[in-house]
Amino acid sequence: MRTIIYTGKGGVGKTSLSAATALASARAGHRTLVMSTDSAHSLGDSLAVKLGSDPTPVTTNLEGQEVDVLTEMERHWKEVYSYLTDLLQSQGMTEITAKEIVILPGMDLIAALLLLENYEREHRYDVVVMDTAPTADTLRLLSMPDVLRWYFDRFFSMQRRIVKLARPTVGRVMKTPLPKDSFFKAIETLYDRAQHVRSMLSDGKQTTVRLVVNPQKMVISETQRAYTYLCLFDIPIELLVVNNVLPGTEEGGFLKEARTEEKRNLEQIRETFGEVPLLYSPRYPHEVLGIDRLLTLASDVFHQDDPSKIYASLRPVRFFTRGGVKKISIELPFVENEKLEVVARGDTLYVRVGWHRRTILLPYAYIGSELGEAKYAGTRLTIDFK
Ligand SMILES: Nc1ncnc2c1ncn2[C@@H]1O[C@H](COP(=O)(O)OP(=O)(O)OP(=O)(O)O)[C@@H](O)[C@H]1O
Ligand SMILES: [Mg+2]
Repeated sequence: MRTIIYTGKGGVGKTSLSAATALASARAGHRTLVMSTDSAHSLGDSLAVKLGSDPTPVTTNLEGQEVDVLTEMERHWKEVYSYLTDLLQSQGMTEITAKEIVILPGMDLIAALLLLENYEREHRYDVVVMDTAPTADTLRLLSMPDVLRWYFDRFFSMQRRIVKLARPTVGRVMKTPLPKDSFFKAIETLYDRAQHVRSMLSDGKQTTVRLVVNPQKMVISETQRAYTYLCLFDIPIELLVVNNVLPGTEEGGFLKEARTEEKRNLEQIRETFGEVPLLYSPRYPHEVLGIDRLLTLASDVFHQDDPSKIYASLRPVRFFTRGGVKKISIELPFVENEKLEVVARGDTLYVRVGWHRRTILLPYAYIGSELGEAKYAGTRLTIDFK
């Protein structure tokens, strides 16, 4: 099963591109599902089809789904959900508030990832396109399986032992409910599935992330943050789609200025995202609603290509530690004996080698560190942070 995850800042065109990609993939003959994981769903509006929380037929070979976290929680994680709501209620929260609070931000993405794992096991689709929520921080949740493992190893197994000892006495006296054994079983299952999701996510031959960006400064900075998170979690970045590019060549006062600024921003996109393949789509004079317009968008972006093909499987920037030293390794091909300049300023790293320039947003753990040695080997530049 090929999975394509679209992400990017609010309003850049994620939903339109997800829908367009899915329609073109279905047209190429793949059994396709397009899935919205953004709780503020607009996928159905984009396709001009009413979608449900289960896969709903859209056209030949295409189904659409708007994931509903509440339904998913109640369907699959009943134990976890009911324990957590009981716990909050025991602390004086009303049932309605407790039910709302248990659904953490980003839970829609987690629910969708677990659904994804199910679809893969069932061999139900050839291609799944995921339209995600707008914040870059949601991407942190892609590390959820790692976090879950940490909690599981250190916390839950210990907790479970304690609960076994404590239940006969404490359970009766204390107001705080103790989780039942089934709660731990549910967490354990969740943990196992999360491990599988993690391996699907970092595979690169199967699951890839496509970033959607607009040629605007603010959009570029937020996308840069998303890009850093993806690299940090070692999730392959396949493609960058630059949407809303001014069409035509007319000049005129307003357009002239807009084109000059856009040109600069397009240049900055190339500097920031380096080796990631770029595709472009024009700004249309109308919204991209309904199947016909979405198919036009798909052909403007992908031309004759199968939109589910893997354009690249890149880890352009890697963050890791070796011998206690934090390092960054950056893909920089075709550099020979050129002058290298590396500067870290605040949360940004500037690298310049000959004609190549890169700006990289640093993860929190790197900010404030002093730059150490920089070495170029193979096609990668590795920089130490002391
Ligand atoms: N290339 C384009 N030309 C003109 N309008 C566009 C283009 N791409 C998207 N739009 C329109 O812009 C609006 C936002 O697009 P879309 O919903 O796809 O963005 P999004 O990134 O999913 O937004 P959100 O972050 O709110 O989910 C929609 O009305 C859509 O029809
Ligand atoms: Mg959207």
